[in-house]
Amino acid sequence: MSIMHSSSTNDPLLTWRSEFPILSDCTYLISNSLGAMPKSVYDSLKAYADTWATRGVRAWGDLWWELNGKVGDKIAPLMGAPQGSVLIHQNASIANSILLSGLDFELPQRNKVVVCDMDFPSDVYVLRQWLPEYYQVEMIRSHDGITIDTDELLDAIDEHTRLVSLSHVLFRSAYIMPVESIVEKAHRVGAQVLLNGYHSVGVIPVDVTALDVDFYIGGTLKWLCGGPGGVFMYVRPDLLPTITPKVTGWFAHQQPFAFDIEHFILREDAYRLMNGTPGIASLYAIQPGIDIINQVGVKAIREKSIRQTALLIELAEQYGYEIVSPRSPQQRAGTVTVNPPHAYEVSRELLARNIVIDYRAKAGIRIAPHFYNSDAEIHLVIKTIAEILQDNSWQQHTQRTFVT
Ligand SMILES: Cc1ncc(COP(=O)(O)O)c(C=O)c1O
Repeated sequence: MSIMHSSSTNDPLLTWRSEFPILSDCTYLISNSLGAMPKSVYDSLKAYADTWATRGVRAWGDLWWELNGKVGDKIAPLMGAPQGSVLIHQNASIANSILLSGLDFELPQRNKVVVCDMDFPSDVYVLRQWLPEYYQVEMIRSHDGITIDTDELLDAIDEHTRLVSLSHVLFRSAYIMPVESIVEKAHRVGAQVLLNGYHSVGVIPVDVTALDVDFYIGGTLKWLCGGPGGVFMYVRPDLLPTITPKVTGWFAHQQPFAFDIEHFILREDAYRLMNGTPGIASLYAIQPGIDIINQVGVKAIREKSIRQTALLIELAEQYGYEIVSPRSPQQRAGTVTVNPPHAYEVSRELLARNIVIDYRAKAGIRIAPHFYNSDAEIHLVIKTIAEILQDNSWQQHTQRTFVT
């Protein structure tokens, strides 16, 4: 099906479409899962291969040894972090492990962490593994499958709380958590705050410095169009000396090339939380997306996102579909979750019709436009859901797929 993308609003951001090959092949509305690949990734990965091929081991001295921090510096302005405070890891589960392995949990009177049942499960899996046995995980439960009650959450953060670990934006509903109040309460009672920024950086304004967040971990593969293998970790610089990671390695050593087997002296900067040799290919692959997001600007991205997510909600409501995302634009990030009848089967038929979305249990079909999507695509996805329900083609999809 061919659709016209020249939106009636004369959207200047649509000029970016030609940078993303997949947009000419399908209706790509899933940037909250995997952002579209910029075509310049071909050049970037070729540069990696050329460097390896021609410079060989000398590439470490030329560029590769400090490349991690250089890429972190490109992400830093998108999250209000100072230069030198952001480093890249392979995934959030590893980054969480590194950080948690270095926090002192054995503090007087502290025996609790606060999480919520809308967090990304892997965050909680990892957290539980690192806590001393006597710790309690207090899980605040959503009443509506969209939000977390702020008063309940803030009440749970008390003098016994060591850490509050939450998503900045909830992955099922795109609800933006009230981070200012969370950090204020946590700090007032002497607790620290770790936020998951996978669904925030690149699509909503984030300022970790103004928010005074302690730790912030998010990924490049969604809204930063960076592909898998790139997760960024920010630690408030003044907290670095208090962290002694057990998950570590020679890249965290002040003098790795001394190869002094007796003494392990941790660096004082963000590299203190490094470990072994980073996946350099990913550091090349993730840069074009980050560069583009910096050029487009989060302000313009957010303005368009608010408009298109509002349009999605308006259209879905015309058909009476349940909306599992906040109505208020101040509380809603980049995704709209729609839960029509037979949502799982409908999602499979959308994929069969080349409209790329995903499905999440206990939520519905997640539709996530980014700055490169047209309004025509927004209309198309909702119209197609209605057609699929009307013509009963959803009924062909009786088998559950492993990846949804
Ligand atoms: C909120 C959130 N956190 C984390 C992840 C992934 O975690 P990891 O980087 O450990 O694979 C995802 C999804 O892919 C996510 O949506």
